[in-house]
Amino acid sequence: MRSREAVGGDGAATTSREFFDVTLRQRASRQFNDQPVSEALIERCLQAAVHAPSAENRQPWVFVVVRDAHLRATIGDLSRRAWRQGGRQHSEGRLSPSLLRDVDRGAEGGIGSAPVIVVVCGDADIGLESTLPSSVYPATQNLLLAATALGLGSAMTTLATLFADELRTLLDLPLSIRPMAVVPIGWPNRPLGPPQRLPLRERAYRDRYGCPW
Ligand SMILES: Cc1cc2nc3c(=O)[nH]c(=O)nc-3n(C[C@H](O)[C@H](O)[C@H](O)COP(=O)(O)O)c2cc1C
Repeated sequence: MRSREAVGGDGAATTSREFFDVTLRQRASRQFNDQPVSEALIERCLQAAVHAPSAENRQPWVFVVVRDAHLRATIGDLSRRAWRQGGRQHSEGRLSPSLLRDVDRGAEGGIGSAPVIVVVCGDADIGLESTLPSSVYPATQNLLLAATALGLGSAMTTLATLFADELRTLLDLPLSIRPMAVVPIGWPNRPLGPPQRLPLRERAYRDRYGCPW
């Protein structure tokens, strides 16, 4: 079968190339410079997020966009606490040295230093219990991809959500609004390089598990 790219002319080919360029280079950025990020760019990221699929199209996501310096610093502190109170110990020996170093830098100040922190939540009054996370995380991924497409750095993080009650108090979240991810967004302070991923043949099979790709 001919691909859309083959039949769609230059426009389609360019769009498709851009999509794959963004998707294949998206990765976690945990250190930011102090350049501000405009509301227009954040809104574009959020527009991408709310176009994600969700079970029964319930769209149970809620995004709290945090710019207030005190709130950002406190969310950064929660990441640090979670990291110091067990996260680091759990990850040592499990993560590669370079990933451990990156997560360490993020938890020890990088996340709190982002000019914008988006706290991604699930609304348990709207979403079904069984599909709340699986409806909220595709939206989070769209947010990350949109940020990458705009040249922004971002990261999916969950450390601070271990302190869900503290986040709830800090951000006035009602009980039904569950914090599920903390996404720092800003201009990355260094180029990230390509993501490290396993070869497809190690993770994909034809027809049945074990039949090589
Ligand atoms: C469910 C989930 C939870 C994560 N939690 C954290 C976190 O708390 N802190 C952090 O720095 N990165 C976190 N990450 C980011 C991963 O470390 C990152 O996606 C992975 O190491 C791939 O790295 P790369 O994006 O640089 O290629 C999380 C990612 C996922 C999918």
